[in-house]
Amino acid sequence: MTTARGYDEVVRGRRSIRGFLDEPVPKELVAEILEVAMRAPSSYNNQCWNFSVVTGAPLDAIRRGNTEGILAGKPDSREFRRFDGGADMHRARQIEVAKQLFGAMGIARDDKDGRQDWVLRGFRQFDAPVSIVVTYDRVLLGSDIAPFDCGAVTNALVNAAWSRGLGCVINSQGIMQSPVVREHARIPDDQVIMICVAMGWPDESFPANAVVSNRKSIEDAVRFVGFDD
Ligand SMILES: Cc1cc2nc3c(=O)[nH]c(=O)nc-3n(C[C@H](O)[C@H](O)[C@H](O)COP(=O)(O)O)c2cc1C
Repeated sequence: MTTARGYDEVVRGRRSIRGFLDEPVPKELVAEILEVAMRAPSSYNNQCWNFSVVTGAPLDAIRRGNTEGILAGKPDSREFRRFDGGADMHRARQIEVAKQLFGAMGIARDDKDGRQDWVLRGFRQFDAPVSIVVTYDRVLLGSDIAPFDCGAVTNALVNAAWSRGLGCVINSQGIMQSPVVREHARIPDDQVIMICVAMGWPDESFPANAVVSNRKSIEDAVRFVGFDD
């Protein structure tokens, strides 16, 4: 077991990592992280999640196929219902973090090539050495609880990785062409692809890695009921 940092320090310190060192991640370390992550709670303890940990040639084939498919205009084939827009406040938060990332990377508003390059990096899972494809048991397709449980384990995963010095970005751009992911990661038919997590050793010199995204306040998010009555 590697030494892990304290919980609050990990949760407050973690941020999405989008620039990685060209160094491998040991298989045993990924297994240890997943073992910790799978302590996550799940509905009825059904633990519907499964993981395909991909590196090397299959991951390169996924990056290539995903990017080529999107650029060729193939439709988005992610295996979940999409969120298109939301309310103004959701859009505002999306813009805010994009501005922070582009600002850090020195990509100007009118820099079309710079923006395109950034989007392509996302399709390539930011060239991370490892991608963990999170799937769930197809018998639960249609239940909202299965994606909820996948979210719980994925959050635990990125924090367990961070506590060991590894960086992650949860990355839905990387699975836009899900049939490509299914083929090269050899994902069984009884699994639904939920999300992927790009993982590797953070490149401290990559400016976007320093971005700390904002959160809404307790006042905005929380209603306390019955406390002061
Ligand atoms: C379900 C999900 C999908 C995401 N997909 C992407 C993605 O495709 N590309 C990306 O750059 N970041 C992606 N992110 C990362 C979010 O942008 C990031 O978590 C958010 O801006 C908060 O920043 P932080 O993780 O640094 O705290 C995703 C996060 C989640 C939870």
